[in-house]
Amino acid sequence: MGLRRILSDKNPALHKVCKPVENFDNKLFRLLDDMRETLLDSGGVGLAAPQVGILRRVVLVDTGEEILELINPTLLETDGEQEGPEGCLSVEGKYGLVKRPYYAKVRAQDRNGNWFEAEGEELTARCFCHELDHLDGIIYTQVMERLLTEEELMAFQE
Ligand code: NI
Repeated sequence: MGLRRILSDKNPALHKVCKPVENFDNKLFRLLDDMRETLLDSGGVGLAAPQVGILRRVVLVDTGEEILELINPTLLETDGEQEGPEGCLSVEGKYGLVKRPYYAKVRAQDRNGNWFEAEGEELTARCFCHELDHLDGIIYTQVMERLLTEEELMAFQE
């Protein structure tokens, strides 16, 4: 187990399309364990493997109840819309105004290769979309309407 360094969006790894996971082995388990520790340490709600320099389709999402490990995830269904502030551990100190679906359902494999579905609303739906985008090399700053000022961010947090 260990903390991994989170790369900034200036790193080319953040702009590549990641490859599917094919081997559900000890190397994957170590990556997932390290990503969990790194996510908990960061105070964020989600982390994608390319953010720690691994170009594989792996993301972690903290739903508030548990940390979901999503391997080879795809978006199955979305509904509604939300517009709000969004940040990224790879884009330090900035927040943008991003439109996302209010609800999202994903399909993914767990660390043993078994397929499952997970769904969420509000922040969890936003996080599913944000993290899955990372696997295709997309950062929220490429899909946001604009960056938020400090004052606007504070108004959202009230
Ligand atoms: Ni991010």
